[in-house]
Amino acid sequence: MSTAEKESIVTIRLAELADIPEVFQMVKELMDYVKLPLNLMIDQETFQKNYSEKAFNCFVAQTPNGSLVGYSAYCQTYSTYEGSMFHLIDLYVRPQQRGSGIGKQLFITTMKKGYELGCKVALFFVLQWNPAVNFYKKLGAINVSEKDNFHIFELESDNFNKLCFE
Ligand SMILES: CC(C)(COP(=O)(O)OP(=O)(O)OC[C@H]1O[C@@H](n2cnc3c(N)ncnc32)[C@H](O)[C@@H]1OP(=O)(O)O)[C@@H](O)C(=O)NCCC(=O)NCCS
Repeated sequence: MSTAEKESIVTIRLAELADIPEVFQMVKELMDYVKLPLNLMIDQETFQKNYSEKAFNCFVAQTPNGSLVGYSAYCQTYSTYEGSMFHLIDLYVRPQQRGSGIGKQLFITTMKKGYELGCKVALFFVLQWNPAVNFYKKLGAINVSEKDNFHIFELESDNFNKLCFE
């Protein structure tokens, strides 16, 4: 089957609340892939609650038999320099379905949503060793860490708490 044929049999649609347990399972697969500890800081219940509160949104890739084979997660953020920004939180295609154009389809559909929301720039984080770097570059993204010597800082949970309450 050609890539175009495989692509056309996958539907990309917004995730419904009922899809969220399966999306959460794929989040865990992604965390495993990027070698993050599997004891996530949130549980499925919180994830589902946050989704229903629209803290973030998701697209899913679904095969005709109903299986979910990938997802993207996104939200809006803001830059005082660039205005409304679109944050692609996650992009994931299950291993057996990779290389058939599904990631590209998910990425483009998600970016179109960002554009529709009025965002002019899209932002996402990728670990240096991850071959997905080349996927994003192929789709026109540039590595601002290399270009602007940019560093991402995080106040991790313990220090966040300490700073606020000690
Ligand atoms: C990154 C990922 C989403 C790509 O999905 P995919 O369905 O395999 O990608 P596609 O088949 O749509 O590929 C689209 C294009 O990118 C290219 N591409 C895909 N992965 C690539 C890679 N690792 N290196 C170079 N090019 C790549 C494809 O050759 C294709 O090129 P073409 O349009 O010229 O044919 C998928 O590999 C994945 O889920 N990886 C694990 C999770 C991850 O790293 N997510 C991103 C970080 S959050």
